Amino acid sequence: MKLAVVGSGYVGLVTGTCFADMGNDVWCIDVDEKKIDGLKKGILPIYEPGLEEMVRRNYAEGRLRFTTSLEEGIENVLFVFIAVGTPPEEDGSADLQHVLGVAQSIGRIMKRYMVVVNKSTVPVGTAEKVREAIRGELMMRNMESQEFDVVSNPEFLKEGDAIEDFLKPDRVVVGTDNPRTAELMRELYSTFLRQGDRVRIMDIPSAELTKYAANAMLATRISFMNELALLCEKTGADIENVRQGIGSDRRIGSSFLYAGIGYGGSCFPKDVKALIYTSKKNGFSASILNAVEEVNRKQREYFVQKVLSHMGDDLKGKTLAVWGLAFKPQTDDMREAPAIDIISGLRNRGAQIRAHDPIAIETARQVLGDQGIQYSIHNYEVLEGADALLLLTEWHHFRRPDFAKMKSMMKAPVIFDGRNQYDPESMKELGFVYFSIGRKAAR
Ligand SMILES: NC(=O)c1ccc[n+]([C@@H]2O[C@H](COP(=O)([O-])OP(=O)(O)OC[C@H]3O[C@@H](n4cnc5c(N)ncnc54)[C@H](O)[C@@H]3O)[C@@H](O)[C@H]2O)c1
Repeated sequence: MKLAVVGSGYVGLVTGTCFADMGNDVWCIDVDEKKIDGLKKGILPIYEPGLEEMVRRNYAEGRLRFTTSLEEGIENVLFVFIAVGTPPEEDGSADLQHVLGVAQSIGRIMKRYMVVVNKSTVPVGTAEKVREAIRGELMMRNMESQEFDVVSNPEFLKEGDAIEDFLKPDRVVVGTDNPRTAELMRELYSTFLRQGDRVRIMDIPSAELTKYAANAMLATRISFMNELALLCEKTGADIENVRQGIGSDRRIGSSFLYAGIGYGGSCFPKDVKALIYTSKKNGFSASILNAVEEVNRKQREYFVQKVLSHMGDDLKGKTLAVWGLAFKPQTDDMREAPAIDIISGLRNRGAQIRAHDPIAIETARQVLGDQGIQYSIHNYEVLEGADALLLLTEWHHFRRPDFAKMKSMMKAPVIFDGRNQYDPESMKELGFVYFSIGRKAAR
């Protein structure tokens, strides 16, 4: 089948590449010339495991093409996916200017029937706005009889595992009011669903809301566990035991129950905010989601306080090593990463930071700059002379480091573990002063 994807970021590029990998003819479109030029040379704008090889192969075999021209990209296609950003506005609402801008441009050049598929995360009612934007442009061209459909098809992939999620989706949500379009979408996705049909056809508002509901639910689980972690610290319980105790209940399940320094990334913070805004606009206060957001914000402050409680409020002359900058492992995405607030908080108190991340140094540098921070791709290098180590992202290679080497390099054997990677008892035996989340400090 022939399709185009407008927006070649995380979602657009993964979507386009995975469809091409199944034999479809795909155009990936972006306004960013540098991005498109790079992609034509096999240079990816993002880090996502496995994606580079897949892009290069499908491009070389002619199924995946890149352009900055919407006209060229959508000329012969049946499906146009909109996968552009929907960043939060000041008031938390989703900024729809890119989505509606693309819709208008599509209306200005549409010549044949198309299914316009909204993959960006957008509030209820956006499909209708997209339809109006296209219709408005068609009317200006005296083409009001031109048929097209607008479908909501939110994306649930997670960065770091995006290809696997796209190739083997738990479900494909399709919001449409047209049974014929539902069948076209089912057919398009059937190559990913050979084990069984997991397409969920529903009305458009429900599909739009489902995406927010999914992210809000996962964010809620994280904040819930972080709140319980505080209680554990006060009462002497251990959040890891509690996590296993509740996670083994099939009604609860074990995913997204890890206490830590809170959620970040381009989706959870923005989507929780957007849902709070939508609730407010509809006349009520989203009590649970407000609390989820508040707990998440406080969790970062709480971690900074943990460091200060041990090291004192004035960190001048202190060197803090940091392991992990990205908002989660397997990505270089720094959007809303907890590391930003935590490092800024400690740097403001005079600490010198020596930070390691295997992938995210360049993206981190764009946010945090170089003032008071040295970066390294080598995890041991940043420990030299450090007064403490802060573990902020749970990259795999932090799971079993050489503790003896670490101790010999650090000025003081102190670890603040924001991701509960180590066992407190073992850390004590190894001679570390060890702080984690929701568990007793070991010293
Ligand atoms: N990143 C994720 O993990 C994820 C997961 C699910 C859903 N989403 C949602 O998908 C949407 C896209 O997110 P993303 O992370 O891929 O964003 P992104 O910022 O990585 O990519 C968006 C791309 O759209 C391009 N763009 C903007 N306006 C354009 C236009 N008029 N024409 C062509 N290209 C244009 C930008 O240049 C950019 O490359 C958002 O609504 C997001 O909430 C993201």
